[in-house]
Amino acid sequence: MAVIETKTLTYTYPGGAKPSIRDVSIKIEKGEFVLITGPSGCGKTTLCRCFNGLIPHFYQGELKGEITVAGLNVVEHPTHELATHVGLVFQNPENQLFALSVEKDVAFGLENLGVPRDEMHKRVDWALKLTGIYDLRERAPHELSGGQQQRAAIASVLAMQPEVIVLDEPTSFLDPLGAKKIFEVIYELNRNTGITIVLVEHRLDLTAKYADHIIIMDDGKVVLDGESREILSSEEARLIGVGIPKATRLYQILQKDGIKLGNAVPLSSDEMAALLREVLKA
Ligand SMILES: Nc1ncnc2c1ncn2[C@@H]1O[C@H](COP(=O)(O)OP(=O)(O)O)[C@@H](O)[C@H]1O
Ligand SMILES: [Mg+2]
Repeated sequence: MAVIETKTLTYTYPGGAKPSIRDVSIKIEKGEFVLITGPSGCGKTTLCRCFNGLIPHFYQGELKGEITVAGLNVVEHPTHELATHVGLVFQNPENQLFALSVEKDVAFGLENLGVPRDEMHKRVDWALKLTGIYDLRERAPHELSGGQQQRAAIASVLAMQPEVIVLDEPTSFLDPLGAKKIFEVIYELNRNTGITIVLVEHRLDLTAKYADHIIIMDDGKVVLDGESREILSSEEARLIGVGIPKATRLYQILQKDGIKLGNAVPLSSDEMAALLREVLKA
C-alpha cells in the first residue's frame, strides 16, 4: 500500500519564474526506506514541504497535480491533521527546538494534540530512549551538540508516532561519524518499528546501503526512481552527478576491466569488504 503518492505534482513558489518541482509522480510504499537525492536546488526540500502540507497550506503559489499522504488528500486536510501521519525533520534542528528542556520539546506536539498525561509521558520516554538521549531529557536544547539536537528533533517527531518520517538532509552540519550514528538510529527505527522513512541526503556513501528505493531528482523532475542497486549502478545516475558510493564505482571500474566480484553491486565499503573477503577465500 502506498503511504505517499503523487501524480504529476507541479509547484511554483509565489512570483517564481518556473516550477520548482515538475510532473513528479512517485509512490512510496508503507515500511520502505526511501532515499531522495539530486543536485542542490533540484527541488528536494520543496517536495518534502508537499509531504506534510506546508505546501500549499503555508506556502502559497501554484500547486497542480495530486498528492495523497496516508490516504489523505494533502490539499484538503490541514497541516495539524497531516502532522499526526507524517513528521518532518528539517535540515537545521535549531529551528525545530524551542522549549526549555529536551523533554518539553518532545512533549510539545503531544500536548497540542491533547494526548492524556500518562500516555504522553510513556511516548516521550519511549522516543527519548529510542534516540539515545533519555539522559539528556532535562537539558536545554541549545546546550546540546549538533548531533544531540538532531536526535532531539527526531525524538519530537517520533513521539507523535507518525506513519512516515521525512528527514531533509538531517546531518548536513555533522561530521561523518556523527552523521553515521544518526543514520543508524533512523535505520534501526525503520527495521524495528516498520515506520516509513523518506531521507533526503547527498552522502550516499553512508546511506545507500540502507535504502530499498532511491529517487533521483534533477532540475525539479524525477529522473530515476527504483531499486537502489539498480539505480546506483546505472550509467544515468553517474552522468547526473549524484555521489555514487565509492564502493559501487570501484566495482564498476573493475567489471569494465573484466574483473567481476560477485553478482550484487556493493553500496558501501562494508559491502565491498565482504565481497573481497569472499574472493580471497576462494
Ligand atoms: N521559499 C522559497 N521561495 C521561492 N523559491 C524557493 C523557495 N525555496 C526554494 N525555492 C527555489 O526552488 C528551487 C528548489 O529548491 P529546493 O527545493 O530548496 O532544492 P533542494 O532542496 O534540492 O536544494 C530552487 O530554485 C530554489 O531557489
Ligand atoms: Mg534542500
